[in-house]
Amino acid sequence: MPEPGFGPKRRLGILISGRGSNMMALAEGARDPASPYEVALVASDKPDAAGLAWAGEQGIPTFAQSPKGMPKAEYEATIDAALRDAGVEAIALAGYMRLLTDDFVARWRGRIVNIHPSLLPKYKGLDTHARAIEAGDTHGGCSVHIVTEELDGGEVLGQAQVPVLPGDTAETLAERVLAEEHLLYPRIVAEWLNR
Ligand code: GRF
Repeated sequence: MPEPGFGPKRRLGILISGRGSNMMALAEGARDPASPYEVALVASDKPDAAGLAWAGEQGIPTFAQSPKGMPKAEYEATIDAALRDAGVEAIALAGYMRLLTDDFVARWRGRIVNIHPSLLPKYKGLDTHARAIEAGDTHGGCSVHIVTEELDGGEVLGQAQVPVLPGDTAETLAERVLAEEHLLYPRIVAEWLNR
């Protein structure tokens, strides 16, 4: 019996390419009885992604498809089919290192979020921490945003700031920002799915 006041959970699919620490944070968040979502599928373009093994050990359904030797549209169609077969209603990108095609974004319009390691609109793309340090910024941080056709360009749903400390390198700043990502992402995904 669900707890009184808690509706049926939204089915979240998570796309990863690597270690999957943000995926783990989302899966931990789903354990909260008040969470509005459950993790229906963790899918990866890298069959050997460390995060996939972890998800499997947790009993979360997993799917892997390498895009190698396959037209991009065909690769994405297999990911799309796996998500739909798992009854996924919303998608969280968590270190998924491939650009989604406009067609895929259109099919899931408004139902994909991403976490990006900068205070958007600053530093879209790669090397965000090095660019923040190089610019002399007092703060780095992370942003959760809706995914649109524009890279790292959709509506920002939430951010966390992290001070840049004297002597910070891209690696030390990335480590402190990542700890904030793990707090921010489950909270904002829950808010987003509740709204
Ligand atoms: C994180 O820094 C996230 O902000 C970025 O890619 C990294 C993924 O790390 N999008 P992980 O795989 O979640 O550990």
